[in-house]
Amino acid sequence: MAAKPPLTLYLAAPRGFCAGVDRAIKIVEMALEKWGAPVYVRHEIVHNKFVVDGLRDKGAVFVEELEECPDDRPVIFSAHGVPKSVPAAAEARQMVYVDATCPLVSKVHIEAQRHAEAGLQMIMIGHKGHPETVGTMGQLPEGEVLLVETVEDVAQVEVRDPERLAFVTQTTLSVDDTKDIVAALQARFPAIVGPHKEDICYATTNRQEAVKEVAPKADALLVVGAPNSSNSRRLVEVGAKNGCSYAQLVQRAENIDWRALEGIHSIAITAGASAPELLVNEVIDAFRDRYEVTVELVETAVERVEFKVPRVLRTA
Ligand code: F3S
Repeated sequence: MAAKPPLTLYLAAPRGFCAGVDRAIKIVEMALEKWGAPVYVRHEIVHNKFVVDGLRDKGAVFVEELEECPDDRPVIFSAHGVPKSVPAAAEARQMVYVDATCPLVSKVHIEAQRHAEAGLQMIMIGHKGHPETVGTMGQLPEGEVLLVETVEDVAQVEVRDPERLAFVTQTTLSVDDTKDIVAALQARFPAIVGPHKEDICYATTNRQEAVKEVAPKADALLVVGAPNSSNSRRLVEVGAKNGCSYAQLVQRAENIDWRALEGIHSIAITAGASAPELLVNEVIDAFRDRYEVTVELVETAVERVEFKVPRVLRTA
């Protein structure tokens, strides 16, 4: 048998699950323990098929809208957050619900409301249609929050009063792109009020920083994550912008395009905030099958963030 070619595998850290994802999964598991199956979950609890399938096997039923849930079973709202109308509708139907919105997303919801109460018109920097953006914009009456996705959008946006404006951001955006959008907003509306930095969360920031460190070292970058995971897709973009000529999102080892990787001597691997470590290990093992792999850990931060589950489950 021919000897395997050598390969240096740069493993980015931090990678994978963040505290908000960890908490949301725990909430579904604990709800199943407390109330038994089925427990309904509005929207994928986190954007990862493997995680969702695992919870479905344990008795979770995933739906897109609250109307699809019966009145007499508990329902959980996903980590991305929901518009205010959703818990209001659940209450009107006297449903038992648990909100798995990441506390860092809830913080943005509160910011938006606080600014609106102070009479400021809100602008949100985010991706149109992403559940987090829908949830944050839905904290205020329809039409009250203006959405900008790009620097170009900033030039077009029509505001009520340029002197009375505030902005919030989605938590999983590209740190660098968002800086440019914030700068454009501040240039056009010097009085605009915003968060101290932006609302991009620690996990998104740390994963992007780690990719910036590994991407220039490697011939290619693989991001383990789902195509609908915003933070995972941003990691691919950050890798491509920071010197990696081939950067690809893969859900599982079976999705690796080996032909595209022919001739590489090094690979960088990371994972989005909703991708389990098990899938990272699966990808690493697939490389071990083909190469003589030397793993080098590239750690740019250590995370110790943990969020408590809601009280109703703590007393389960
Ligand atoms: Fe929360 Fe950030 Fe994770 S907002 S769900 S900690 S990616």
